[in-house]
Amino acid sequence: MRIVLLGPPGAGKGTQAEALIKKLFIPHISTGDMFRAAIKAATPLGLEAKEYMDMGLLVPDDVTIRIIRDRISQKDCQEGFILDGFPRTKAQAESFQAMLADRNEALSAVLNIVVPLDKLMVRLTGRRCCKKCGSIFHLLYNPPKEPETCDACGGELFQRKDDSEETVSRRLKVYEEETFPLIEFYKAKGLLRDIDGDQPISRVMVALGRSLGQDWS
Ligand code: AP5
Ligand code: MG
Ligand code: ZN
Repeated sequence: MRIVLLGPPGAGKGTQAEALIKKLFIPHISTGDMFRAAIKAATPLGLEAKEYMDMGLLVPDDVTIRIIRDRISQKDCQEGFILDGFPRTKAQAESFQAMLADRNEALSAVLNIVVPLDKLMVRLTGRRCCKKCGSIFHLLYNPPKEPETCDACGGELFQRKDDSEETVSRRLKVYEEETFPLIEFYKAKGLLRDIDGDQPISRVMVALGRSLGQDWS
């Protein structure tokens, strides 16, 4: 299965992808996570990406398209993948279609997680992530048992640098301008499925399953 998770910053793409991989046994590919790993490793890619990410802007298309082309060519993607955060511009979506066509592959579905814009700021400023395993928490909506400690691995929790109010505002604006038009792009291809993301995390998961013809209730 080749799935794209679409949705604004804070929609729950990463949260749901973590759960989906346990059901579908295909890799979760997040361009944001790949860039953050590159920043941590201080690679040239990381240095370039950091400039954009810290400002809440998109990393240039050519860089982003290249890392996805490399990633989906790896062996663990033969049976499919869950893309989270890619594509997010028209140019990325078009390149991705061409990439899949070259490989004689097709997308199974684009799952658009819909959350009202006014809920996203609270979701993002209250987010905490694990330094060690990447698990995602929320101070109010999905709190860890111990503050500042990951339930899954005991790692230390941190707040993403781009989750400040000012940078979130910029990211939401960039989403509206660059990524929102992809809804129509995929609708026209008959691939888009809207999922109500404004309900408890476990219920969003059930809705995602249903849209893929699975019963996860
Ligand atoms: P990226 O890391 O992809 O960030 P994003 O798209 O802004 O999305 P988020 O990770 O913020 O949100 P999410 O939907 O994953 O939500 P989550 O599950 O964490 O990208 C970061 C940056 O990298 C970009 O700004 C850009 O610079 C660069 N980049 C990445 N991809 C790129 C690309 N393709 N092209 C160019 N540049 C790129 O949930 C959020 C919070 O809400 C959590 O606290 C969670 O616990 C909580 N939550 C989740 N679900 C629910 C629910 N149902 N109810 C209540 N709370 C919930
Ligand atoms: Mg994410
Ligand atoms: Zn952890």
